[in-house]
Amino acid sequence: MLNETFKLEKTDLGHYVVVSFGPVAEENLPQPGQFYMFYKEYVKKPFSVAFLKENRLFFIIKKVGPFTSSIPDEVRVEGPYGKPFPAVVTNTFLISGGAGIAPICFLAEKLTEQNLPFTWLHGESKAENLTLLDYLPVKPNKVSVEPTLVTDLLPKEAQFYCACGPKPMLKGLHSKWGTNGFVSLEERMSCGFGACYGCVIPTTSGYQRVCKEGPVFEAGELLWQELCV
Ligand code: FES
Repeated sequence: MLNETFKLEKTDLGHYVVVSFGPVAEENLPQPGQFYMFYKEYVKKPFSVAFLKENRLFFIIKKVGPFTSSIPDEVRVEGPYGKPFPAVVTNTFLISGGAGIAPICFLAEKLTEQNLPFTWLHGESKAENLTLLDYLPVKPNKVSVEPTLVTDLLPKEAQFYCACGPKPMLKGLHSKWGTNGFVSLEERMSCGFGACYGCVIPTTSGYQRVCKEGPVFEAGELLWQELCV
């Protein structure tokens, strides 16, 4: 488990910033879906890994507030935390929206290494955000820009899927394709390791912590109506 301070390298892409640090020791490397907590003074934020290069970790961070709009040059990093995506089968559909691209890109990178074919669909709110794709080691097969939604790109016949993105996107995916898949949830976190219960969500087996029992859940475990109010 990593718990140390790193200098960050940052590439500003307007809507997103690509952040990296490392290299880190082999035993501290993550699996797709896992995240690290970045903290500076009293602010602590979770970020999912987007890809690796020679044991250096890369994150795709959407600018949504003071911390993400002005990422510090140096942060304390803890992790990896959380439950990763399970080993998946060939021809899995990967579906991402917005900043949900990070864990899905990492999964796509792993599947590529394993020679497992997949189809990756990604949705963005604006065309200019797509400059991000130039920085990725693996690219989506198809992208949508609003008003077209990524769920508009889904083939009619339901497929096995792994997804991450805004809750309305995940809900749309669930209503079109049902529960045969896994989703990674984005939630606000205070501790990141299961102590504060600030990140709970409703599931078929009661409230569960996104940081500890997730962030990856079986789609059939989630109570979609309550999750998306
Ligand atoms: Fe504290 Fe999940 S963030 S329990």
